[in-house]
Amino acid sequence: MLRVPGVLGVPKGLVLGCFGALVLGVLGVQVLGAQTLPAGAGAEVLKQRCVSCHDSDIITSQKLSLTGWTRSVDKMVRWGASIAPAEREVLQPYLAAHFAPRPAASHASSEVGAAAYKRACQSCHDPDIIEQQKLTRTGWTRSVEKMMRWGATVSDTEKEPLIDYLASRYGPK
Ligand code: HEC
Ligand code: HEC
Repeated sequence: MLRVPGVLGVPKGLVLGCFGALVLGVLGVQVLGAQTLPAGAGAEVLKQRCVSCHDSDIITSQKLSLTGWTRSVDKMVRWGASIAPAEREVLQPYLAAHFAPRPAASHASSEVGAAAYKRACQSCHDPDIIEQQKLTRTGWTRSVEKMMRWGATVSDTEKEPLIDYLASRYGPK
């Protein structure tokens, strides 16, 4: 979102955010409809209560626990969002279920990933060509799948730990 200087305690973005909502209103519902939210009762609450000031991206790009989402909604209520307690009961678990922090890979799983990396990825080329890439998890998934098509032998049980291993070390900076 574009930034404007805060106006006397009005949170940054509010001015522009509400203007943005106006623009969205003019463009019509297709713009909002184009943002795909995971299905669920929480999606309806979110569309009704959370996207009048800003679009849903600012929400869905966060990764928070249930406590974090509860605090976030508390904050939005202080900033003027109106949402009934019963709606919060639906919204907060929905947000926590779909936009949660990725659990840190367990130690065992990261060992599987590290071993698979050594065995399956370093047989054809130097690690440099891999480690200089800065990819998101989606990018590493594509990369590993491509290498599997090209002959890397990665088993089903190794694949996810390997991708986690790569994404946690060679992610975008
Ligand atoms: C009355 C206007 C308003 C409503 C309604 C609103 N927000 Fe916000 N929200 C804001 C403003 C202003 C910001 C700050 C935007 C910025 O930093 O650019 C923000 C930012 C956020 C952020 C980004 C992180 C942060 O805390 O700055 C999240 C997450 C968020 N809102 C969630 C929600 C959720 C969930 C709802 C529905 C319960 C909601 N918002 C409804 C005004 C609102
Ligand atoms: C069977 C041989 C082989 C194995 C095993 C292999 N690769 Fe590759 N990889 C290649 C070849 C060939 C290239 C292209 C090299 C070039 O362009 O110089 C490549 C290139 C890459 C690149 C550079 C970007 C690209 O897509 O061209 C990345 C990243 C990569 N490999 C990751 C991996 C990972 C991760 C593994 C382990 C799952 C792996 N490779 C295992 C053959 C292999």
